[in-house]
Amino acid sequence: MGFKVAVVGATGNVGREMLSILAERGIPAGDVTAVASERSAGGEVSYGEDDVLKVEDLERFDFEGTDIGLFSPGAKVSAIHAPRAAKSGCVVIDNTSHFRMDPDVPLVVPEVNPEAIAHYKKRLIIANPNCSTIQMVVALKPLHDFARIKRVVVATYQSVSGAGREAMDELFNQTRGVYVNDPITKEVFTKQIAFNCIPHIDVFMEDGSTKEEWKMGVETRKILDRDIAVHATCVRVPVFIGHAEAVNVEFERPISVEQARAALKAAPGISVIDRRVDEGYVTPQESAGEDAVFVSRIRRDPTVPHGLGLWVVADNLRKGAALNAVQIAEILMREYLDQSGDVGRRRHIG
Ligand SMILES: NC(=O)c1ccc[n+]([C@@H]2O[C@H](COP(=O)([O-])OP(=O)(O)OC[C@H]3O[C@@H](n4cnc5c(N)ncnc54)[C@H](OP(=O)(O)O)[C@@H]3O)[C@@H](O)[C@H]2O)c1
Repeated sequence: MGFKVAVVGATGNVGREMLSILAERGIPAGDVTAVASERSAGGEVSYGEDDVLKVEDLERFDFEGTDIGLFSPGAKVSAIHAPRAAKSGCVVIDNTSHFRMDPDVPLVVPEVNPEAIAHYKKRLIIANPNCSTIQMVVALKPLHDFARIKRVVVATYQSVSGAGREAMDELFNQTRGVYVNDPITKEVFTKQIAFNCIPHIDVFMEDGSTKEEWKMGVETRKILDRDIAVHATCVRVPVFIGHAEAVNVEFERPISVEQARAALKAAPGISVIDRRVDEGYVTPQESAGEDAVFVSRIRRDPTVPHGLGLWVVADNLRKGAALNAVQIAEILMREYLDQSGDVGRRRHIG
């Protein structure tokens, strides 16, 4: 369609995945600009199999002429540069936590609340939810439509890629260190992550929960239904890519395992792999590089009148971040931006 796209944070975990998804979707390299910090400006990043893009410095980058900005440079950087881009008419789809709870910024998962995109015009910013929220609400949506969810209790098993490139290096180096008897160095995580689990993601809040756990509740309510109660325990595990979640759901109305399975199978973006045999479920390692949210281990919870247990797995860099952002961009381009306007000066028609 000839839209100009800037990927901001292009050298990071999420940014590189965005570039690879844009290339897979056939967006020409000439329509995409890679933007990162001064540190990597002037270097190159791969774009698909055959192309490379030169990295531009965000501080000096002029968003005039860019239709869509896919942002993942960290919350503090987005706080400054997303409004600057929007001022030039560039619609920002931001992956950081900074704008998610802003009432003037839609928080969107295309399979769940695509209609919310219509509210982007107030600030020209759309927020991408947290990775653990995205995969959970994709799985909850068809179940909520069927039997109305009252309460969710979730424990997450989150991979280190969710904390950025340096976190992946830390798991690799610590794992190697354990085998060769080198001292363990901790920079990204507060405790050793190799051969361990850490029940602490983001900062602690006053009530004893962590901010990651708080995000899962407030974001689920903003996206899906403001009446759903969520209790989360978020845990970092020594997995490189792919988040898993053990989700316990309590409903208002009856729902059988068979009805839940049928509703999940019919819903967009979900792959149900649920055979009660060895290997009849999906693990995070198998989700890496995949687009779907996988649902396994669907079973009744007999401790409440209407309850189910589920195991939900997805690639946190794809559906949990980059893919979700690109899906939002596709809806914007298709339904809200003028297809015929001058490049970089699209009228907002939707
Ligand atoms: N990883 C996930 O699963 C996930 C999911 C959802 C949301 N997010 C959010 O997305 C953001 C990035 O995550 P990530 O995993 O991609 O992190 P990352 O691998 O550490 O990459 C950070 C990116 O931001 C760029 N950057 C840092 N400071 C900058 C500055 N001052 N100006 C311009 N660019 C700057 C870096 O560029 P240089 O190479 O130049 O330093 C790099 O491209 C975070 O806010 C994170 O919370 C991540």
